Amino acid sequence: MKKVFAVLGDPVSHSLSPVMHNAAFNALGLDCEYLAFRVDKEHLGDAIRGAAALGFGGLNLTIPLKEKALEIVEAEPMAGKIGAVNTVDFRDGIRGYNTDGPGAMRALTERGVGLRGAEVVLAGAGGAARGIAFHLVRAGARVTIVNRTGGRAASLAAELDVKSAGMEALPGLLEKASVLINSTSVGMTPNMEETIATSDMMHPGLIVFDIVYNPIDTKLLQEARKAGAIVIDGVKMLVYQGAESFRIWTGKTPPVDIMEAAVRRRLG
Ligand code: ATR
Repeated sequence: MKKVFAVLGDPVSHSLSPVMHNAAFNALGLDCEYLAFRVDKEHLGDAIRGAAALGFGGLNLTIPLKEKALEIVEAEPMAGKIGAVNTVDFRDGIRGYNTDGPGAMRALTERGVGLRGAEVVLAGAGGAARGIAFHLVRAGARVTIVNRTGGRAASLAAELDVKSAGMEALPGLLEKASVLINSTSVGMTPNMEETIATSDMMHPGLIVFDIVYNPIDTKLLQEARKAGAIVIDGVKMLVYQGAESFRIWTGKTPPVDIMEAAVRRRLG
């Protein structure tokens, strides 16, 4: 019988997860279908337990449900620390995972970025930043968190025992950094002209990873290229977090090239 998977969120109609996962299921010839359901926080418990009762294969959770899910699922320790669940698996009870960080780490390491001892500047202190920050620290990177609201950067940095600074420190920090990650929403449609850094602040060989994928070629990545930096776009993280969910649910190696092509085609 067909196995059903879904992303729950609010809003959820623009999610790229259905096109990405259905491409993967088709490529592997699996009798599975991936749907999207609009669910609000108040009904999340009913929705997750209902999906379990109906025999769903698994779920993804997106805004604004990732934090609320911790009250409902049995979260793996890292998801608990991050404070957010984006993947639910039903094979052994109702288990919650966070694949955002692993997705980001894979996007970096596949480009040959060695994280142990690397000076990494992480811009942002919101939900996306948390997922990445915990994994960077675990990988042995020397992380500095910068954020528009300095207090938010400071409190995340204190949790992780790393440094923090205001956005105005970015030019100085980038001189010594080998990696810059934008985990803020700066540069996202419709504010495509915005960027956290300009080319004069970046140096050749700097690795610049933007988690924004709408547009794919953000102003930050354009500026980075001008400076001779190496760029990694947000589609990579989107695909690799999805790939990690796929692996958790199916135990199979996800066809990442097919997933990535499906997402890039949809984004145009
Ligand atoms: P998410 O879960 O996607 O990370 P979030 O928790 O709302 O969303 O975090 C958004 C991040 O983008 C924050 O780091 C935010 O900075 P503040 O903590 O100062 O709000 C950052 N951000 C959003 N718009 C920004 C802007 N115009 N300039 C600088 N930073 C911005």
